[in-house]
Amino acid sequence: MDKSALEGLAKQLPSGAVVTAPEEMAPYATDWTRVPGKPSAVLLPRNVQEVSLALAYCHAHGIPVVPSGGRTGLAAGAVPTRGEVVLNMSRLDTIAEPSVLARTLRVGAGAITERVHEKAAEAGLIWPIDLASKGSCQIGGNLSTNAGGLRVIRYGMTRKWVTRLQVVKMDGTILELNADLEKNNTGYDLLQMVVGSEGTLCAVTEATLKLAPQPSDRGKAVMLFGLPTAQGVAELFEHCRRGPFEILAFEFFSDRCLAAVEKQLGRRCRFPDRHAYYALMEIAGEAPREEWLAQTLALSGVRDALQAESSDDRRAVWGLREGITESLARTGPLRKHDLCVPLRSMASFLGEVDGIAPREKLKVDVYFFGHFGDGSPHVNLVNPAGVSFEEFERDCDRYEVALFDLVKKYSGSISSEHGIGLLKKKWLSYSRTQE
Ligand code: MLT
Ligand code: ZN
Repeated sequence: MDKSALEGLAKQLPSGAVVTAPEEMAPYATDWTRVPGKPSAVLLPRNVQEVSLALAYCHAHGIPVVPSGGRTGLAAGAVPTRGEVVLNMSRLDTIAEPSVLARTLRVGAGAITERVHEKAAEAGLIWPIDLASKGSCQIGGNLSTNAGGLRVIRYGMTRKWVTRLQVVKMDGTILELNADLEKNNTGYDLLQMVVGSEGTLCAVTEATLKLAPQPSDRGKAVMLFGLPTAQGVAELFEHCRRGPFEILAFEFFSDRCLAAVEKQLGRRCRFPDRHAYYALMEIAGEAPREEWLAQTLALSGVRDALQAESSDDRRAVWGLREGITESLARTGPLRKHDLCVPLRSMASFLGEVDGIAPREKLKVDVYFFGHFGDGSPHVNLVNPAGVSFEEFERDCDRYEVALFDLVKKYSGSISSEHGIGLLKKKWLSYSRTQE
């Protein structure tokens, strides 16, 4: 961006709202993917009017803008790789009082997700989007990427938990979408079009979130199962769907993931033996479970099982699943894939994916985990010890062609929750046709 355009932009906003010092811009240059970017300026507006002024100016002068929140994204959607201006929403962090009547909460786009959870809890309510990044991600980013997380099987994705948006179009026009209405049947649902659009249509500045009642802790348990095959996990899940309880989460991970969590974070699984796969299920409900449990243990695929009831025990079991992302990031360079296939195909899809690396003789360590109950496996590729980064990258490129071919064959999605960003752009045609 030329100097005079930058000076003009700085005149639109109060002092301190336009950052250009390289050391102050550095945190806004990347996200959790560590893809390197280089912003030409970082804008830190305090309210919707300032967002509007900044966007109107950038629009009029042809200055490209990347909206940005807590920068916990895993698809590099907020990374300014081409010298864009970063429009960061951190200062729009208001959180109003929850409405118990409407079960809603009005928040600024920059509100940290965990602070929103705490505010809802004061009224005995929850905002049910539960993400590992909740301590730093922001509501605007959750909405713009339609974030998923660990409770989608029970509550659905972010788009189900919003009733109003205030957004600013790239030309600076402020739009109110849906005005807190529970029912609004007047044509196209623009609010839902914005959710998941990753900042390509407008910048989200404020939202009214929908809240749910706090679930009772009575009858809550977390179960962990050890299984020899993905087919075993699929059969267990089908059996669990018939259980006398509500399923709040049904996750899985491979033994390699468990070993990484044990090594990197020092957490331990209580099973005496190793298993190829582990399934973690959280349930609630007060109906007796003894008979169901006896049937479960008799399933041919179930090799081991434990039930955690106290909140400390439940947290310890969850720690195995929740520690995977951090452990893999510490293990080495990696490529992340968040896929989705129809539930009925999960086992055969995973079986075929498992065959890619040996068949093609690719030097990648493959880690499976994710949201089995949503049909949403994560396939992470890690740079094996002793393999150069260049060789790993080359083999990842070849692996991805085979992986996304399989996604297409199973009519799946190349991204179930992290979004397209920059990293998945070249693969979009595997999930969306030109038409
Ligand atoms: C998860 O399921 O843990 C998140 O999507 C993050 C990740 O894929 O690493
Ligand atoms: Zn996930």
